[in-house]
Amino acid sequence: MSVVINSSRKNIDDSLYILNNDNALSLVLPEIADTSYRLNTQVSNYDPLEQYVSQIAKFHSSRLNLSNNKTSCVEFSIVTPTVNQCNIIYDHHNYEKINKKNSPICSIIASLSDYTHKFLLTDINHQQYKYKHFDQSQNKLFLFKKHMHLVFDSSKYHGFIGALSHDNIDTRNPYLLINLWSYPLDNIPYYSSQNVASDCDVPMKFTDINSPTATRIIETSCLNYNFFDRLLYNSELILDDELMKNISAVNSYSTHRIIMKIKNESEPIVSTRDSPEVTSDKKDNINTWNIDEHIYQDKLIQETNQFDGNTVLLDLTKNNYTLLEKFVYDTAIFHLSRLNIHDMEHHYVEFWCKSKFDTHALHVDCDESLKMKGEYEYPLLSCVTYLNDVPGCPTIITNVDMDCYKYKEFESQTELILSLPVHNKQITFDGSFFHGGTTLDDNQPMDERYIIAINFWKTKPNDVEYYKPNTDNVLDNRSQFVRDNRIINLREDITDICSINVCNDTINYNLFNDILYNKKSDACYRFNKFIKTTTCNKSHTFKFILDNSIKEDKKHADLKAKYGGIMDDIRDIQYNDTNLKYNNRFLQRFSFPKIYSADMCRYIINESEKYATHNGGWTTSRHSAYPTTDLPVDKIPSIFGIILETLKTIMKRISISYELHNDMTIDVKDLFVVKYSHDAQNHLEMHKDGSTISFNILLNESCEFEGGGTKFDDGLTHHSQQGDLFIHSSRIDHSGLPITKGIRYLLVGFLDITI
Ligand SMILES: [Fe+2]
Ligand SMILES: [Fe+2]
Repeated sequence: MSVVINSSRKNIDDSLYILNNDNALSLVLPEIADTSYRLNTQVSNYDPLEQYVSQIAKFHSSRLNLSNNKTSCVEFSIVTPTVNQCNIIYDHHNYEKINKKNSPICSIIASLSDYTHKFLLTDINHQQYKYKHFDQSQNKLFLFKKHMHLVFDSSKYHGFIGALSHDNIDTRNPYLLINLWSYPLDNIPYYSSQNVASDCDVPMKFTDINSPTATRIIETSCLNYNFFDRLLYNSELILDDELMKNISAVNSYSTHRIIMKIKNESEPIVSTRDSPEVTSDKKDNINTWNIDEHIYQDKLIQETNQFDGNTVLLDLTKNNYTLLEKFVYDTAIFHLSRLNIHDMEHHYVEFWCKSKFDTHALHVDCDESLKMKGEYEYPLLSCVTYLNDVPGCPTIITNVDMDCYKYKEFESQTELILSLPVHNKQITFDGSFFHGGTTLDDNQPMDERYIIAINFWKTKPNDVEYYKPNTDNVLDNRSQFVRDNRIINLREDITDICSINVCNDTINYNLFNDILYNKKSDACYRFNKFIKTTTCNKSHTFKFILDNSIKEDKKHADLKAKYGGIMDDIRDIQYNDTNLKYNNRFLQRFSFPKIYSADMCRYIINESEKYATHNGGWTTSRHSAYPTTDLPVDKIPSIFGIILETLKTIMKRISISYELHNDMTIDVKDLFVVKYSHDAQNHLEMHKDGSTISFNILLNESCEFEGGGTKFDDGLTHHSQQGDLFIHSSRIDHSGLPITKGIRYLLVGFLDITI
């Protein structure tokens, strides 16, 4: 078995997602505690557990760009949590054979219970563990709640911890563990469900909850050598009072991740009450919120309707507010305090209202006065509240920042959010990314779309006046609201954002060019059909993600309709060679005797040696991974033409052997004469060739050497006679057996199938 040492683990992002909470997996949990299973990808009918596993695995494989050939095995188990026992995940079976701890590409844990587990992910790998190199600068603690799942690098030490004295892990609250492996774990059984298989898909929705606002940073000097030594070697958790206090103080409702940074003793302590210095990717900074139904709905719309003119600042020091001011004040206090911002005197709240749909002009929120001078200062956070239902006129939020806009780097854009206006919905995002209003079809009522937009600032935006309510207003607009009596309640809607994968017909360069430069009003009509047909029918916010595999799957399905099952065989041999079905035709090997006469063989050898003598010898570095001593045929004019002539016969044999369709072309990627000698390169170790099909023809008589032959990973060994053609798939591991005496010459070809 080949072991793929994957380098893709660097992509694993320790990200958290929420699963569709309409489906309580815990209710259908079978009794499989602490046993590992493999997901059988050949089965079409999954029970609910298998569906969960398969959908989670598929979602993350696609999101992390782990193509099919990297994730060739999905292992899963239901695990009972143990406390303070940190470990890494590795292939135990393989460890016994190769004495090396191979870990999965990534692991995913999914919470199945209401209990909030504390999950510690250290930055310590096995080498560092072994040699006690415990100088990692930061470790992460996840507050792991129901329906959450976490994607993490399990080659780092991790485990559930009981951080506080009242933390008792209830072992009746198991979790689901999924490991994505880059090679098949043959020793693990396939899962065969005890349940009745259900043939309807469990619709599953994944909500990204990695916004910087859900992360807290705590500095601590507690996570020192002694801490890790006790935890990793003795399963003892020693936290100092300060860290315990800081963890307890974190609001576990809105915070999912605590980054515990090692405090540099020479620097002052950063209190957890300071604004978070979160440097995570800005792109994920989008959250939606629900405002509880309140009695001021209609009045707020009326007051919004009266608002005209430019943006204004809210005076945060007044004691009495109008309804609009109070709404902005309550919103500001809610968001600033969840961001751990309490020094209101150093923060500014800018707002404005709109009562109708306003152009297709996308923009960034910035200090407009500085912008005139070409300088950009952005707010901490932007917030839009919708006061009425206008689902056909959504807000677009892109990941395009000013640089990306200026240089039109739209090829790198793979996502776009559409936020549909429904009353009492609020969306917060990073206003330094282009955003604005759009429509989903021609017949949208443009005149009644009430929104209140608010920006939170750390520096005072220039030339923005403080708001002065119009007291002559016909409305009862007196300042009747006392500052400290809250009139609205906000709750995060963690399941609102629905991810929809689309192909490059939908998200492409032209889309961004159309919405940002051409201001095409119909550019977003294309999204309407997805919103109308999605299964996320409770969602009002949609994240469209470019997924190139959709097109590939469609192309594959079309080709399969035309050519039949051979397309599966070709795809699997090309991209999924570690998990081939036993009946893949390319596992077959074929031998055809005496394709070349003895004279032809001798002529090729002689001409090759002659060429080598006059041209600096045989080459030894043409193939980077598994170099052979060889000469490319196209460099030797005296044999090139004659061999080309014979290729027709060889291709025909290949085509007939694997039943290739007449329309399929076989391309020659490489054609060369190889020389194995007992006193120079005498063998070639186990390898795959970099093509789809390989062939070789033995050029000298088998009595001229001892040893040799092609040995395959599955146990077969083939010995040719002079002039015999031997055909095999390049993707089956094979080796050239050592020559113990004499010289062995082969003509070798690497071929691809193109359709
Ligand atoms: Fe804006
Ligand atoms: Fe080979």
